Amino acid sequence: MTPGVRLILLGKQGAGKGTQCVRLSRHYVVPHIATGDMFRAAVKSGTEAGRLVKRYLDAGELVPDVIVMRVVADRLDQDDTKARGFVLDGFPRTVHQAEALAALLSPSDVDVVIDLEVPTGLVLQRLASRRVCSACGANYSLDSPPKFDWTCDVCGGEVVQRGDDTEVAIRRRLKLYEVATAPLVQWYLGRGQLEVVDGVGDADTVMARLVAVVDARRGIRAESP
Ligand code: AP5
Ligand code: MG
Repeated sequence: MTPGVRLILLGKQGAGKGTQCVRLSRHYVVPHIATGDMFRAAVKSGTEAGRLVKRYLDAGELVPDVIVMRVVADRLDQDDTKARGFVLDGFPRTVHQAEALAALLSPSDVDVVIDLEVPTGLVLQRLASRRVCSACGANYSLDSPPKFDWTCDVCGGEVVQRGDDTEVAIRRRLKLYEVATAPLVQWYLGRGQLEVVDGVGDADTVMARLVAVVDARRGIRAESP
């Protein structure tokens, strides 16, 4: 394993971006940057930014690009991401955000953008079953609960249903994915940066597919002049 990789994981809500990005971040020893997690943490800590974004999260709406870009630019400017790279989860989510990211990283760029593909019927099942730690955000599901009484295996926090995993907010999030985020797949395809990975199967199987694709791309990058 060699550190120093810059990845973007795209995929519908419930595709398994968070689940796989935690693993990819450990595997490649790079920070996991998840805009949704950052916004939920801001809401929880009651900061002004948190108060600003709460209504968007609760409704399943996209947070305005200007706020998102400020948060991401600050994070990408930190020493760990500059030195080691990153895995981006939930960002970019619009073509405008992708253009802003490309400008931020220029003249360099990300190594690969992966579209984690899962049918809508399956993501709906996964979201209905998802439970998360209210303290550290670790992911569980009704099929894969914590070991003891909905208490987080990692930090001992209470494991609950996420606030935006309501039927109305899920419907809105999936609609926005089709309208605002799906065009990103075409945008990255046009730039020759896209790989599509099948996200159906158990988490270990999906992770093995992701690592194979990332390592193949890094091989391509190493061979290019
Ligand atoms: P965010 O937190 O990013 O939520 P999301 O996009 O709705 O995606 P999810 O986190 O629901 O899905 P996931 O793909 O991570 O799935 P997971 O791994 O949990 O964003 C939340 C909100 O923040 C947005 O709605 C928006 O308001 C705002 N926001 C964030 N970024 C923004 C941006 N860039 N611009 C504007 N607004 C932004 O998996 C789901 C479930 O499936 C889990 O229970 C998991 O255990 C299970 N599972 C995962 N993989 C498998 C598998 N292989 N087999 C079986 N079960 C599995
Ligand atoms: Mg997530």
